[in-house]
Amino acid sequence: MSEKEISIGLFGFGCVGQGLYDVLNQSQSLKANIEKICVKDSSKKRKIAMSYFTYEREDILRRNNLDVIVELIDDAAEAFKIVSAALNNGLNVVSANKKMLAENFEELYRLQIKNNAALIYEGSAGGSIPIIRNLEEYYDNELLSSFRGILNGTCNYILSRMELESKGYQEILSDAQSNGFAESNPWLDVAAYDTLYKTILLTVHSFGVVLKPEMVLNLGIQNITFDDIVYAREKGLRIKLLGMGYKSNGGFHVYVMPHFVEKTDELYNVIYEYNGVEVEGAFSCKQTFVGKGAGSHPTGSAVLSDISALTYNYKYAYKKLKKRINGSDQIAGGHLLDNDFSIRVYIRFKDKAELKGIEIISIEEEYRSSHTNYIVARVNLRSLFMLKGNKESKVFVCAMESIRES
Ligand SMILES: NC(=O)c1ccc[n+]([C@@H]2O[C@H](COP(=O)([O-])OP(=O)(O)OC[C@H]3O[C@@H](n4cnc5c(N)ncnc54)[C@H](OP(=O)(O)O)[C@@H]3O)[C@@H](O)[C@H]2O)c1
Repeated sequence: MSEKEISIGLFGFGCVGQGLYDVLNQSQSLKANIEKICVKDSSKKRKIAMSYFTYEREDILRRNNLDVIVELIDDAAEAFKIVSAALNNGLNVVSANKKMLAENFEELYRLQIKNNAALIYEGSAGGSIPIIRNLEEYYDNELLSSFRGILNGTCNYILSRMELESKGYQEILSDAQSNGFAESNPWLDVAAYDTLYKTILLTVHSFGVVLKPEMVLNLGIQNITFDDIVYAREKGLRIKLLGMGYKSNGGFHVYVMPHFVEKTDELYNVIYEYNGVEVEGAFSCKQTFVGKGAGSHPTGSAVLSDISALTYNYKYAYKKLKKRINGSDQIAGGHLLDNDFSIRVYIRFKDKAELKGIEIISIEEEYRSSHTNYIVARVNLRSLFMLKGNKESKVFVCAMESIRES
């Protein structure tokens, strides 16, 4: 692709799709035209001419005049069908669908190689923060040792408001839902699945390691109470939901959980809907990227940047992944993930029976009162998997330390 106008086939015209439409219209430098938009609901009113829209994915996939497919729908299974079909047609694809990417990464990688087509997805992690291309290109050597990030704007918004307004979780969540900062079904955000998918993508581009969502621990903020905020505040700390990945003994630790962070931590002041990612290299030391992690225009602008990158034939080179697999077909990297290690955590619970199954190595602090109990203990991370996605459990776990202290 060169100076000619780029023809785009767009899937989805919701929050991000409309954001892309707006930023594209205001872009001076990129000559691009949305040819057709595939959406789901034919009864919905649209803010642009109805002639743009179709309800059949083949109406777009069968066209032979398109340069790029942009996939911005909220259905991961359908998105995978669209993206696979487009890559198999030899088309370059831009997506922001972290769930679809994380769940199907290996297959999507193979399709890119087989069809010599690009799939790029800057908007899928960190919203407007240009983190994926930076990890892929700038930190392209073996010296990157860790990343840790606030990757979900909804959780960070809830945690910030709970702390800054001294209010309970349910009150802030309901308010966030009514003013559009949280989904009506917030489970994927608050139970840290959204952060999990993004963490999996950052792990690929940081270390060349491909993991499946079920292999990686994700604990969310759904059970947090104001007592936990008070505990943090009394110690001069803030609670942040962090996705992290770091090297350890030839393998990798990758997990998602709430963390207490100190005032001196760059991520302490990343509040409300902002995201922040800190990367650390052997010689570059710590560097932090901060920006809007979601939203119509911020995410639309990340998608626009990907479309623009395709005009100079950009694709992820996956240098770290290719180096790791060294010409073999062994793309999956689960054998490099180490979940069997001890971690210092705060666990708040009602009844000690709720802790059954958690491998507690040592307890350094124990508090009991009529309405709240907690321990600060060293536990085996693998044993915390019993809490992953567990809707029955009311236990709240928060890491006492992140890699900066260990
Ligand atoms: N919102 C954000 O800030 C943000 C940030 C980063 C990444 N993302 C990702 O971007 C993607 C889109 O998110 P969004 O917030 O824009 O979602 P959204 O506002 O819910 O819009 C979803 C769009 O997808 C369309 N759609 C759903 N199923 C479809 C199907 N089977 N065929 C064709 N179209 C279909 C919907 O059609 P109708 O209009 O007919 O309902 C709608 O236009 C998701 O993968 C999300 O994770 C979002």
